[in-house]
Amino acid sequence: MHEKQEIVICLGSSCFSRGNRLSMSIIKNFLKDNKLEEKFFFHGSRCFDRCEKGPILKIGDKIYEEVNPEELADLLKVSLKIR
Ligand code: FES
Repeated sequence: MHEKQEIVICLGSSCFSRGNRLSMSIIKNFLKDNKLEEKFFFHGSRCFDRCEKGPILKIGDKIYEEVNPEELADLLKVSLKIR
């Protein structure tokens, strides 16, 4: 069975209001534009209990802190290995 890599965005109220509300649609569009929807399982999650380090995004096993929607495209290109 083919396993998709997981992308999890924190949708707890702190992260959501501090940037993840925007980041959610940025990621969705990024996956669509790069035809990556089949390769990644993108979904939301409850609070990661790291609110003070938020907004939180998890890609595979790696947790990204203080994710800024304005820098998210670059982060995705690097972390998803897109050129
Ligand atoms: S709301 Fe995201 S870590 Fe708490």
